[in-house]
Amino acid sequence: MLQKKHTAGKPRPLYTARVLDLDGEGRGRVCADGREVYIDGVLPGETVTFQRLRKHRGKMQGRAVEISAPSPRRVTPPCAHAGVCGGCRLQHLEYGMQLEYKEDILRRHLEARPNLRPARWLPVVTAPPLAYRRRARLSVRYHARDDEIRIGFRARYGGYVLALRDCPVLEARVARLLPSLHECLQGLSCRERIPQIEVSVGDGAAALVVRHLDPLSDADEAALREYGEIHGLGIYAQPKGPDSCVPLYVPGTGGLSYALPAHQVEIRFSPVDFIQVNGGVNRLMVDQALDLLAPRTNEVVLDLFCGLGNFSLPLARRCAGVVGADFCAALVERARVNARRNGIANAEFLHADLSEEGSAALWARYNPDKVLLDPARSGALPMLRALPAHGPRRIVYVSCNPETLARDADCLVNEKGYELTHAGLIDMFPHTNHIESMLVFDRP
Ligand SMILES: C[S@@+](CC[C@H](N)C(=O)[O-])C[C@H]1O[C@@H](n2cnc3c(N)ncnc32)[C@H](O)[C@@H]1O
Repeated sequence: MLQKKHTAGKPRPLYTARVLDLDGEGRGRVCADGREVYIDGVLPGETVTFQRLRKHRGKMQGRAVEISAPSPRRVTPPCAHAGVCGGCRLQHLEYGMQLEYKEDILRRHLEARPNLRPARWLPVVTAPPLAYRRRARLSVRYHARDDEIRIGFRARYGGYVLALRDCPVLEARVARLLPSLHECLQGLSCRERIPQIEVSVGDGAAALVVRHLDPLSDADEAALREYGEIHGLGIYAQPKGPDSCVPLYVPGTGGLSYALPAHQVEIRFSPVDFIQVNGGVNRLMVDQALDLLAPRTNEVVLDLFCGLGNFSLPLARRCAGVVGADFCAALVERARVNARRNGIANAEFLHADLSEEGSAALWARYNPDKVLLDPARSGALPMLRALPAHGPRRIVYVSCNPETLARDADCLVNEKGYELTHAGLIDMFPHTNHIESMLVFDRP
């Protein structure tokens, strides 16, 4: 909890100030008594009366008591849990302002380092900002006091699990099942021992993965199967790590897949595989990456952190050969199967840990003309540091973390001599403060 208990009779002093801007977590920054304070739920330009709380990760927190001049860009959040749920932080901002805010944070991260001003900003990649989440991890908590489970996301502060009956950002097919899912889990004998449900939605089918800490009884398995049958949902049980996931019920519609129609590619996946959270934005993002890479029929492209082949398979349709690399053996195997199923013979997939020094040998081994990289939040510094002097002509970097992106861009531009030619926001996670982006680097 952020708020410190304070003794009765000593109310916290109130301050009034104008909100200057938003920080990377969507909190409004104000200056009061010569100190910066960060406040949830307020917008730039608003005048806010607030109490100071305490420091959290080095920043003084405040709590708004009154907003006396609300911003014209403030909107009513689409979700009843906004402000409390840790899933979304920006629902009180008009959607256009969310995009401006994220682009500004990206720009600030880049421009904090020398020579990282892109020659051109790309138009923001967006799709409808509600009901977009096709992949989610819902927490489940059992409360012995009332013998009730709660299913939902964690609260922003305090770490408790919110009881969600609806979620406007979750794919509608799954969001509308939240009340019946609660009823189903509540009826299981092992309800105390279910910590999490994973949601995975494909173009046709959808699936839930029930993580369970104790073995499921026959009756619990039967109840989960029945739930899947009634709702046309795949139901999987996962007693341990992702490899232990087994199907309990698979509907007639079959397994999970999504299509990238512009590239005549269909990608099959398992319910525990990484897929890009927002299907609509993913299609546009892949199109943009391909347009920017503009692969020629005689070129070799390296797709680092390739996952299921989301970029590699469309790329393979347009160039001489693609080499994808990822450290998840299951994803690499599935990428190979997906290539075969799509009749793609010029894509090779390697199982490699790209944070290890040895993987730098990939540069010399494949000598790619162009590179796409889409690393996890930690970025790709070891691979970029190892880039040879006459490395790829163009690098398209897709990032989900502007901090590591700026660090890696610094290496490419200020150590390796690349030019930052394009930058653009990809709004993969509307209403949250997560920032996905795409940068292009060219060797002069
Ligand atoms: C953001 S996902 C991108 C996946 C894929 N490009 C896509 O669009 O679906 C990041 C990928 O990096 C992989 N990864 C994370 N750390 C890695 C490492 N050290 N070496 C290789 N791959 C890694 C994960 O397995 C995951 O597939």
